[in-house]
Amino acid sequence: MTLIDPSGRPVTNIRISLTARCNLKCMYCHREGEKKPEGEMSADEIAEILRVAASFNIRSVKFTGGEPTLRRDVVEIIRSVPEGMESSMTTNGTRLTKMARELKEAGLSRVNISIDSLKREVYEKISGCDRLNEALLGIKSALEAGLTPVKLNVVVLKGINDGEIEDFLSFVRGNQNLVLQLIELMPSADCGHHFSLDDLQTDLEARSSLTITRRMHHRKKFCLEGAEVEIVRPLHNTEFCSSCNRIRVTSDGKLKPCLLRTDNHVDIRGRRGKELEDLFIQAVSQRKPYYR
Ligand code: 5AD
Repeated sequence: MTLIDPSGRPVTNIRISLTARCNLKCMYCHREGEKKPEGEMSADEIAEILRVAASFNIRSVKFTGGEPTLRRDVVEIIRSVPEGMESSMTTNGTRLTKMARELKEAGLSRVNISIDSLKREVYEKISGCDRLNEALLGIKSALEAGLTPVKLNVVVLKGINDGEIEDFLSFVRGNQNLVLQLIELMPSADCGHHFSLDDLQTDLEARSSLTITRRMHHRKKFCLEGAEVEIVRPLHNTEFCSSCNRIRVTSDGKLKPCLLRTDNHVDIRGRRGKELEDLFIQAVSQRKPYYR
């Protein structure tokens, strides 16, 4: 049985945070809405969540963090993804040189790599760490391991990296296995620097030879002289909400019906079987488009 929320949106994918820990300190990070996580789910608990998700016809899982590769059992977790469910991961890439191949062998299909600047000082300013080189090597390893398409997540920050869009386009241009994702900053902690992607979207659209509207969140995807670009704008975007078919799980085991809300989480820590199924149904029944 597929879970359908009160607005008629089917839930077809799940995003699971494996840990709130991270080896970077990005100035804008919303920490997936987790202020004070209470411990981490075990690999067994995650496997049970995946099993129940599969029973509800959820077809894909995205693992996220924090930085998911910091978990020692990340490979075991990937291996527990049920047959027929596609898995991907959002990572900062800095640990992928060691792990890309192993993750692929365990069944991971592809990765998103967060890389907000191609300039060493700017990368360090944003992430608080001098790790640009590791991230770049991580991208290379992901490509070599076949974790493709590799999507590069760039959160556009006014006055910081908003001048690097063309550099990023050049970086992905001509490589069919690289896709650029330009992400609008969502307000978080004490990070200003909001940059509206409206004008950028209009500009890319005008220069694009091909425009596709993806099913996922109705994201716009453009092709510019061999560079593939997606725009992600969750804010004040009724289309983003109306086509959202994702449920989230926080690293400490709470179902999170909406990215933009922290007041309707459903605790599933340690729950299994029928009990867990019922909590999935409850969480989905609480889903409501944030922007309507
Ligand atoms: N705004 C937009 N995206 C964010 N991410 C984290 N914090 C924010 C924010 N405030 C997303 C970025 C990053 C991924 C790990 O989470 O896409 O690449």
